[in-house]
Amino acid sequence: MFWDRLPQPKLFRTLRFRLAGTFLFIFAVVLALVAVAGTTNLNHVLENQSNQTLLDELGALKGYIHFEGHKPYWFLDPSDPEEAGIRARLSDVFVIADEQGNLDSFSSFDHSLAQLGDRATILAELAQIRKTQEPVIKTVVSTDKIPYQIISSTLRDDTGAHWYVAEGRTLVDDNTVRRTFRRNLLIYLPLALILCAVVSWYSAGRALRALQSVDSAAKKVTGSNLGLQIPRRGADDELDRLIDSFNEMSRRLKASFEQVRQFSTDVSHELRTPLTAIQGQLEVALFTATTKEQLQEAIENALQDVERLANLVRALLLLSQSESGQIPMHKNSLDLGRLVEDIVDQFQIPAEAGELQLSHTTTQPVPCEVDRTQIERVVTNLLSNAIKYTPAGGWIRAYAEPLGQQVRLVVEDSGVGIPASHIPHIFDRFYRVPDPNPEKGLGLGLSFVAAIVKAHGGEIHVHSDPGKGSRFEVVLPAATASVAAPIRTVTSPAA
Ligand SMILES: Nc1ncnc2c1ncn2[C@@H]1O[C@H](COP(=O)(O)OP(=O)(O)OP(=O)(O)O)[C@@H](O)[C@H]1O
Ligand SMILES: [Mg+2]
Repeated sequence: MFWDRLPQPKLFRTLRFRLAGTFLFIFAVVLALVAVAGTTNLNHVLENQSNQTLLDELGALKGYIHFEGHKPYWFLDPSDPEEAGIRARLSDVFVIADEQGNLDSFSSFDHSLAQLGDRATILAELAQIRKTQEPVIKTVVSTDKIPYQIISSTLRDDTGAHWYVAEGRTLVDDNTVRRTFRRNLLIYLPLALILCAVVSWYSAGRALRALQSVDSAAKKVTGSNLGLQIPRRGADDELDRLIDSFNEMSRRLKASFEQVRQFSTDVSHELRTPLTAIQGQLEVALFTATTKEQLQEAIENALQDVERLANLVRALLLLSQSESGQIPMHKNSLDLGRLVEDIVDQFQIPAEAGELQLSHTTTQPVPCEVDRTQIERVVTNLLSNAIKYTPAGGWIRAYAEPLGQQVRLVVEDSGVGIPASHIPHIFDRFYRVPDPNPEKGLGLGLSFVAAIVKAHGGEIHVHSDPGKGSRFEVVLPAATASVAAPIRTVTSPAA
C-alpha cells in the first residue's frame, strides 16, 4: 500500500509503540461500543418514560372532563390550587373536538401548534383509533424547533357520541438529558483514552525493559568474550526464557568457536609437519645429493608427504561440502557384505601391525542401494577408529546383515571404549575424547560418517563401555530413501 512507501519514523516500528497502540485501539473500540449502547439505552428509557407519562396524563384528563348533554366541561375545583395546577399542566397542549372534527376547545402555549386543530388530521386519527382501539402517540415539532409528544384518544358523552381528545407534553427536558449525556461522553471518553494511552505506554515500556538488557548484552558480544551470560530476572516468564535461550546460544557459540580455534591449531600443525619434512628433504637433496638415486629418493619421500597434504586438503573440502549438505551421491545396487569384506581385507596389514585380530563375519548377501564411495568412507573411518583405539591383543569384528526394509552395518572392538559423557559429542566436528587417546587425529572421521549416513536417510547407534570396547551400528534403508531422516544417536553401555 502507498503508505508503506512513506518514510516511517523509527518510533512507529518499535514493539513498545505497537503494543501500546494495540491496547489503545482495543480500549477505544470497547469505549465506542459502550457509548453507542449507552446512548441507545438512554433513548429507549426516555421514550418509554415519556409514553407512560402521556398515558397517565390521558387517564387523568378523561377523569376531569365530563359532559353536560352534548357539551364537555372540566370537572374540578378551580379554587383548589392543586386541581388548578393539574388543569394548567394538562392543558399545556390540549385539543377537544367532536366526531366531525369540529374543534370545541384548543389550548397551547405554542401558537405554532395550531396544526393540531386541523380537521383532516383529527378525522384521520379518529379513524385510526376506531380501527386499533388504541390511543395514537405522535411527535410534532413547532416552528421554534421544540419537539412535542402528543397523545390522542376518544371520549363518549351522555348521548353516546364520540369526542376527540388530544393532550401533549414538550420533550425539551428529555432532549436536555440526552444533550448532557452526549456532552459528558465527549468530555470523559477522550480523557479515558488519554489515560489508557499513558498507562499502556508505561506498562509496555516496563514489560520490554528486560529486552534492553538482552539487547545491550548482545551488543557487547565479540570474538573475545563469547559465552557472555545475562543474569536472569527470576520472574520465570517469557523474558527469562529468552535470557535462558540467549545464554544457551552464547555457550554453544563459545564451544563451537573454541572447536574452530582448536581446529585451526590442529590443521596448522598437521600442515606444518609434512611441509617442514618436504622442505627438509628438498634442501638436503639440493645441497647434498650427488647421484640420480639420491635425488629420486628425496623426491619420492617428498611426494609421500605431498600426498598426506593432499589427503588433508581433501578432508577439509569434504567437511565443507558435508556442512552445506552437498555430499555428491551416486547410488548403486551392491552387496554391503562384500563391500565390508573388501575393506576388512585392506585393513588386515595395519591390524596385524597393531597385533589385533580383525575378522569379517557376514553370513548372507546384504543387498542395498547406496553410494559405494561414501559407504566405503563410512566403513573405513569406523575400522580405522577401531584399530586406532584398540590396544594390542584386542579384537575387531565387522559385518553387515539385512534388517527388513533396512540393512545394518556393525563394527565392534574390544578397545578403550568411550566414556558416556563424551558419546553425545563424538559426531561433532573436531571432537576428540581428550584422554586416554593420545593418538593423532583431527576428530573429523565420525562427523563425516554422520553426514554420509544422514544423506542416505539412515541412523547411527553407539554402544560403548570404557575399558571393554565399543560397538558402532549403522542402519541404512535398503532401497532409495526419498526423504533423508534426521540422524539419531543412541547411547548405552555395551551389553
Ligand atoms: N572405536 C572407538 N573406540 C574408542 N573411541 C573411539 C572409537 N571411535 C571413535 N572414538 C572416539 O571418538 C573421537 C572422535 O572420532 P573421530 O573418528 O571423529 O576422530 P579421530 O579418530 O580422533 O580423528 P580422525 O578420524 O579425524 O582422524 C575419537 O577422538 C575417539 O576418542
Ligand atoms: Mg577417526
